Amino acid sequence: MPVNISCNINGKAQRLDAELETSALELLRDQLGLTGAKLVCGSGACGACTILVDGAPRCSCLLPANHLEGRTIITVEGHAENGYHPVQSAFLAHDALQCGYCTPGFINSGIAFYNHWREKHGKSEPGRTEIAEGLAGNLCRCAAYDGIYRAIAAACKGDFDTNLNPAFARVDGPEKVKGTAKYTTDVKLPGQLVGMVFRSPHPHARVTRLDLSKAQSAKGVKAAISQVNPDNMLRYMGQPIAAIAAETAELARAAMKLIEIEFEILPFVQGIENARKAGAVLIYPDKDTQVPVASEGPPFPASWEGNVRKTSISFSASNAGKAARKVSEALPGSKNLFKARFETPHQFHTAFEPHCAVAWWKTETQLEVHASTQAVKWIGEELAKRYGLNETDVEVKAAYVGGAFGAKLGLTRDILTAIDLARVAKAPVSIVYSRAEELSDAGYRPSALIDFAITADADGLNPAYTLDAYASSGNAIGSNIADVSGLTYTGIDKALQDYDVVSNFSNASAFRGPGGPAACFVLEQGIDQLAYQIGMDPLEFRRKWEKDEGFLALFKWVEASPLWQSRTAMAIKSGRFSKGLGLAFGGWMHLYMPSAVVVVTADESGFSVSNAVQDMGQGSKSVLAAAVAEVFMVPAQEVRVIAGSSSLTLGPASGGSRTAASIFPAAKEAAGKVLEALKTALTKDKGMTVDAIVEGGIRSNGAFVPWKSALKGIATIEEKAERGRNAGFNPMGLLPLGQGLVLGQGRGYGCYVIEVEVDRLLGKVRVTQVEGAMRIGKVHVKANALSQCHGGIIQGIGHALYENSAICPSTGNILTRGLEDYRIPGIGDVPKMKVDFLEEGFEFVKEKGIGLAELCTVPVAGAIGNAIFNAVGWRPLRGPILPQDVLEGIKGA
Ligand code: FES
Repeated sequence: MPVNISCNINGKAQRLDAELETSALELLRDQLGLTGAKLVCGSGACGACTILVDGAPRCSCLLPANHLEGRTIITVEGHAENGYHPVQSAFLAHDALQCGYCTPGFINSGIAFYNHWREKHGKSEPGRTEIAEGLAGNLCRCAAYDGIYRAIAAACKGDFDTNLNPAFARVDGPEKVKGTAKYTTDVKLPGQLVGMVFRSPHPHARVTRLDLSKAQSAKGVKAAISQVNPDNMLRYMGQPIAAIAAETAELARAAMKLIEIEFEILPFVQGIENARKAGAVLIYPDKDTQVPVASEGPPFPASWEGNVRKTSISFSASNAGKAARKVSEALPGSKNLFKARFETPHQFHTAFEPHCAVAWWKTETQLEVHASTQAVKWIGEELAKRYGLNETDVEVKAAYVGGAFGAKLGLTRDILTAIDLARVAKAPVSIVYSRAEELSDAGYRPSALIDFAITADADGLNPAYTLDAYASSGNAIGSNIADVSGLTYTGIDKALQDYDVVSNFSNASAFRGPGGPAACFVLEQGIDQLAYQIGMDPLEFRRKWEKDEGFLALFKWVEASPLWQSRTAMAIKSGRFSKGLGLAFGGWMHLYMPSAVVVVTADESGFSVSNAVQDMGQGSKSVLAAAVAEVFMVPAQEVRVIAGSSSLTLGPASGGSRTAASIFPAAKEAAGKVLEALKTALTKDKGMTVDAIVEGGIRSNGAFVPWKSALKGIATIEEKAERGRNAGFNPMGLLPLGQGLVLGQGRGYGCYVIEVEVDRLLGKVRVTQVEGAMRIGKVHVKANALSQCHGGIIQGIGHALYENSAICPSTGNILTRGLEDYRIPGIGDVPKMKVDFLEEGFEFVKEKGIGLAELCTVPVAGAIGNAIFNAVGWRPLRGPILPQDVLEGIKGA
């Protein structure tokens, strides 16, 4: 039933028509184009859709549109008509955002808090507890919480009452804090249809009949396509069967009910233990079936036995035979041996912008795709191959990406579905996964059972370990937990074995630091336990045998850490709350793309830089700007950045911590070339000599000339540069990694000292302090790098303590369907954090720096495990570390 609504939105009187069931969010986004507020959870759990209604923050996804009648509404776009609100300025200055998808909601909740605080307390600084309580209704998956705390405190204190245009590092921050950044979910092309996917209701079945004819001829339907695999098999609940494109979501939903389908329902198997059993239901009885790759690691050659696939190569094992022998010769039960089975959980990416795409065949041979992706260029190339098109006739755009964390690295099914539907419908089609689809068919970090044993001599020398990881990537393969464990220490012998155990569950996909957090949870706790057993300090134990200079630098840093110095060796076993400190280290590869090409331009309007690279919140646009800013000595925010389109010059996918190391050197070299050309042009065309480049301009004939004047009347100068390889020969760099990627020399190393508080009565664990150091060479944009580390730490805390999913054992159905069920860390879970960068050790790398985003999450869960042991004398072998397990464990400690 249609209703008429009169209200005031962002200072303008509006009369709007809506259906009774329309939400306020739909009204604002669909009718008024106010796309700042975002739909993320749809259940009031995350606050990304927060608007101000008569000054109060409200979740617009739950608010019926007709409740806006007679109200005054402010959306995020409404604060910035004449510049920024102080809270928006503070978010920019304190880098209180990454991907920006949650930011409009946080800005509105933050402004409501700010108004309330000012009214009650005047210009004064609220504490973290007050801010956490005020913003408890908002979540941020990138975990930019530390910046949010700082921004809100500073705004309330009055730091931005007049300083409304502060300096900032994140160059796409302004659009994000104003809500004008257009993500794929905000794209609306003329005639755009709504696509939807019809999914398997069974975890294991064969499709025996599929008839789409009635759905195809239903009202408003423009395309209906089958997505059944050639073998007609359905191997997980939620697997796509068909897709529909219709004029509206309601019409698409109605058409889905008309799909006629029959199944042969088959027995299913889930869980690593069950799938490994002799006689278990076989997922791939036909060994010629093409098995999906989960992209956690390269799918090395392997052999199959039942549902278990055993890889035959390990890149990181060292003296494997010797390690296995040492472990098997150690006396069972002796203090020189620690042996245990660990269990690590699934972790769902839950990026706030779901998997989504809008596809449009401009002609039969020209394709435009807007996608929430980590790899515009690579996807463009793959699409050209798949559809037989010229690469220049395919454009993939990702202007803004609302988080990804690895799940959007490949040519994902949402993109292909939108393209295939658009081709049949002859119109643009959007696919936007619901939160339930995101949690059931969009990837996750694989879970694993890990058999681990470690030994060393009584004096701590000659250590060795064996690690056998049985990972579940659903019905996909490619896990690499064991192999990644070897990325850490060089001074320890190790035998490593990875297994994939396939089952009737959806496919995993790469997740930040693939394999790393699980490997570290096991290895770092194993080292800590063995040190404890042989009566040695855990740092001293590592010092005995690890001589890698990267680690030695970190060991020194740990020794100097006041937090580590405050550690006592003994667990406190009385009283309700016990505090403990844990230490863990991690390593990550140095990856880069030598063929990346960056273009830099100077013209009358200033400097600009372009590359295809996409920015999902990690700050790649800021890295490009920083390189140019460094050369011309201008603020990075003044450099125009053009990125996120496959039509631009070759740029890296954003994954594996390859981005900054690929684009910064090329951008800096291109900027240097522009500078040289500019000097010549200034002399030739304007008779100016350039004595020096100084802050904001040049020194010419002893006088300062700002760039604005120097560039006036200058013809456009454009230069490009290829990243190229680092100096020296690196045999590992010849490994064919795909996507133009090269394995560089050396590794990034990181460590955390983590303090936890264990509630012995309720079993709850709270991380209270984190201090860390990352040794990755030169850091190009400090504020963004720090925010990355904070995000990595908090996602690691979520993985270790909170993020849990449930599956119905009798139906195989995933019961965790939304953010109200899947608990990710909120602002109140954020500890005090301090991270130092050790900017050395990569002098042989162009521009001296390597990537960070994976490394900074790897050691977290291991350090938490060690801190819990230090606090209560019980070691968690299973994650997430739930209160009931803690209570059980403490009882036996
Ligand atoms: Fe908050 Fe990405 S910045 S979800």
